[in-house]
Amino acid sequence: MRALLFVAVATLLAGCNNPPPPSINNAVAAPARQYEAAQLGRGKALFQANCAVCHGAGAQGAFTWRVAGPDGKYLPPPLNGTGHAWHHPKAALKQTIRQGTLALGGNMPPWQDKLSEQDIEDLIAWFQSLWPDEVYQAWWEIDQRALQARR
Ligand code: HEC
Repeated sequence: MRALLFVAVATLLAGCNNPPPPSINNAVAAPARQYEAAQLGRGKALFQANCAVCHGAGAQGAFTWRVAGPDGKYLPPPLNGTGHAWHHPKAALKQTIRQGTLALGGNMPPWQDKLSEQDIEDLIAWFQSLWPDEVYQAWWEIDQRALQARR
């Protein structure tokens, strides 16, 4: 499984036409993750209360999340590191959570009126804490590039 992921990541990066900015060195390792237990506790509780009904208690998503249903909509994807949430920089993950996907023809409700910025940070910290290191590393590189592009 890990080997497969590496192949997938390598293929993705090899197929990328936009080389990362020169200041980003792909060999740089993401800083070691250090989550505060209190933050993970808040994130987990928020997830169980609001998100688990769709994404699963372990953030494992729906088994058939890759396949659109008869209505063209998708079932909730995993957020535990086995899906593709790592393709999205932090800003994009936050936007999906804030705005949901109903307006885009998807199935996820918006949370911006129910959850604070801190709640959303805590939620992301919790589900990212489930990710294997190599998934987190791939996400971190994408996030760094997005941050760099904004400056
Ligand atoms: C009613 C079901 C439902 C609920 C509740 C829900 N989601 Fe989702 N979520 C989805 C679906 C379905 C998608 C896939 C996008 C689409 O097609 O709508 C999704 C996508 C996402 C994504 C993007 C993942 C990716 O791989 O791109 C994130 C992040 C996310 N949800 C986080 C959350 C969080 C955090 C909560 C709780 C605050 C939550 N979701 C609650 C159904 C739900």
